[in-house]
Amino acid sequence: MDMNNEHEYDFENRILSSSYSVEDTETEFSLRPKTLADYIGQDKAKENLKIYIDAAKKRGEMLDHILIYGPPGLGKTTLSNIIANEMGVNIRVTSGPSIEKQGDLAALLTNLGENDILFIDEIHRLQRSVEEVLYPALEDFSLDIIIGKGPSARSIRLPLNHFTLIGATTRKGQISAPLLTRFGVDLKLDFYTPEQLALIVKRSANLLEVEISEEGASAIASRSRGTPRIANRLLKRVRDFAEVKGDGKITEEIADYALSKLEIDELGLDNVDRKMLETIIKIYDGGPVGLDTLAATVGEEAITLEDVYEPYLMQIGFLSRTPRGRCATKLAYEHLGIPMIQKQKKAIEGQLGLFDESGNAK
Ligand code: ADE
Repeated sequence: MDMNNEHEYDFENRILSSSYSVEDTETEFSLRPKTLADYIGQDKAKENLKIYIDAAKKRGEMLDHILIYGPPGLGKTTLSNIIANEMGVNIRVTSGPSIEKQGDLAALLTNLGENDILFIDEIHRLQRSVEEVLYPALEDFSLDIIIGKGPSARSIRLPLNHFTLIGATTRKGQISAPLLTRFGVDLKLDFYTPEQLALIVKRSANLLEVEISEEGASAIASRSRGTPRIANRLLKRVRDFAEVKGDGKITEEIADYALSKLEIDELGLDNVDRKMLETIIKIYDGGPVGLDTLAATVGEEAITLEDVYEPYLMQIGFLSRTPRGRCATKLAYEHLGIPMIQKQKKAIEGQLGLFDESGNAK
């Protein structure tokens, strides 16, 4: 499986990293649901997908090209494998950055069987020259190749088997307009609720043959940042503590103990999240601070902060993105136990649009 670039954001084996680590990859795949019925959460995407699958099967056709987008770790690859399974076809998995040349894509496309699925992760990172080969393939199932150079160069058109492209991305906004218009189905994945994550944790514990209490599952779920990949990873780490420090059963007590040792707080924030918020508050007076400046101060890459950390901090209302930079919100101050002085309070409320130009409350 060509997933090399999946490891891109896995810095320092961060426990909350929502990308794969080498150690976890094997169990990760075995914990993944194989059918839509087993897939917990994402009800909107799942309901629509079920209709498209049933309709395509009824007509004896393949699915239209599908774009799946949302923050990392929410199940884009899992859902794609489920689609292939439900349609009864093969899936070929690759990623945008690993298709370096037009020839790489041509090789992938010509090797697809009739009705197969081509899954391209991080599709926003496809090179423009590669994208150009993809357009006729998506529209006419044909491959245009140029033979020769200069005046004697000529183009030939090779027919391809019918296939479905599933593109996955964390950044829909970075997909070029011509590529975006070629997807017939758009599936947006959202963060999971703690209740859904608790179900996922119990399902995974069952597959791993670990005993877990309701409270133990909830304790892990509520600290998983709305992300099943993180929930499953925390489950495995808590299992280690349960086996060494307890009798192997995951209770609320052992889960709390393990998670405090991992320095993950009650909202699932880790050292990097806290450092980010503290930097904004203590060094930049609550913000706004530009992303690159913030990244340099925290010692992470800007793209990591943007893709991995910020979506959840914004989701829980701790961070706001303004045209002038990032700001910590009142909730972030409260969570970190830092009092807001009046100036900061006013500045933040102004950024959030609660005040008019002359500083009066709206
Ligand atoms: N494991 C990872 N994601 C899952 C999901 N959405 N449903 C069930 N099990 C999962």
